[in-house]
Amino acid sequence: MKTRAAVAVAAGKPLEILEVDLDGPREGEVLVEIKATGICHTDEFTLSGADPEGLFPAILGHEGAGVVVDVGKGVTSVKKGDHVIPLYTPECRQCPSCLSRKTNLCTAIRATQGQGLMPDPEIALAKVNPDAPFDKICYIGCGVTTGIRAVINTAKVEQGANAVVFGLGGIGLNVIQGLKLAGADMIIGVDQNNDKKPWGEKFGMTHFVNPKEIDGDVVPHLVNMTKRGADQIGGADYTFDCTGSTKVMCQALEASHRGWGKSVVIGVAGAGQEISTRPFQLVTGRTWMGTAFGGARGRTDVPKIVDWYMDGKIQIDPMITHTLKLEDINKGFDLMHEGKSIRSVVVY
Ligand SMILES: NC(=O)c1ccc[n+]([C@@H]2O[C@H](COP(=O)([O-])OP(=O)(O)OC[C@H]3O[C@@H](n4cnc5c(N)ncnc54)[C@H](O)[C@@H]3O)[C@@H](O)[C@H]2O)c1
Ligand SMILES: [Zn+2]
Ligand SMILES: [Zn+2]
Repeated sequence: MKTRAAVAVAAGKPLEILEVDLDGPREGEVLVEIKATGICHTDEFTLSGADPEGLFPAILGHEGAGVVVDVGKGVTSVKKGDHVIPLYTPECRQCPSCLSRKTNLCTAIRATQGQGLMPDPEIALAKVNPDAPFDKICYIGCGVTTGIRAVINTAKVEQGANAVVFGLGGIGLNVIQGLKLAGADMIIGVDQNNDKKPWGEKFGMTHFVNPKEIDGDVVPHLVNMTKRGADQIGGADYTFDCTGSTKVMCQALEASHRGWGKSVVIGVAGAGQEISTRPFQLVTGRTWMGTAFGGARGRTDVPKIVDWYMDGKIQIDPMITHTLKLEDINKGFDLMHEGKSIRSVVVY
């Protein structure tokens, strides 16, 4: 069949709207009509050419929602008409990774994932509540789930904890929302852009720091802020990098509490970049960890998050600052560069 798509023709070039040929579903595959797509920073990262797994030409987009229009032979878990969120990390429930119960990084289709393709088998689809609006729940396909589950699954934040979130974009605000759900006391947001302050506050941030506007280094500043009562060591119980800057990742580790602080890397750094710290930071009890898709198991966890949204337990609508037509998709990237959007969603 023929369909329209925004094609990334080369690194750093605007997307072009082209007509493309699409094969029908093969055995085990599902054809989904995508109704809405969120533009995530990782799309910009791939488009920029910094992603070692990004190949051109490509049709970007990993944050979407749609309807099953056809299924290939042997497909049993979804049928025509089902509402689904495609998963960039599938859940086969059979591979050693899925069976370990220790990771969400299913390896069933790693070969095609590594070629820059979104997977099409049924194990890469979460079937969701058909009453949920596509133009909102598409964001659960990456940003919302990554942020909220990084707090709950990866860091396992407990009530009364204090936390620092670096980068108040589409991911960081969901980390804040997750911290609020988990019952954190002090939630410090760090961003170079002051316009992000009211955004953080809307979702539960209690303090804001702009690293450009303080005297000296941001790490001792944060350590001082988190001293409380008899604890004059300072440092946050949990810190999160939601920027992708390796410099920030190191600051986040060092701003976590001696003895027990956990620092979670969520941001994706450019090809070949490295992080380093003095081993003493780890010897003295800090833990450096990372997460993909917030450790969520897509087919199991994503439908639950859609229900949380439908029940009003989490917010999505205010974060979707722009809704664009496919023709205007490049505007979504401009808004991101200018720091003017939290999430832009393209509707078809
Ligand atoms: N691990 C995963 O599964 C996963 C999933 C989605 C996105 N990501 C990554 O998460 C990161 C954030 O994505 P997003 O969509 O929220 O991006 P975004 O562009 O919406 O937000 C990034 C924010 O960080 C701020 N920032 C940048 N450099 C900073 C610095 N040095 N100090 C303080 N603040 C700084 C920016 O002002 C902006 O507000 C990206 O690197 C993205 O690739 C990871
Ligand atoms: Zn993403
Ligand atoms: Zn698996």
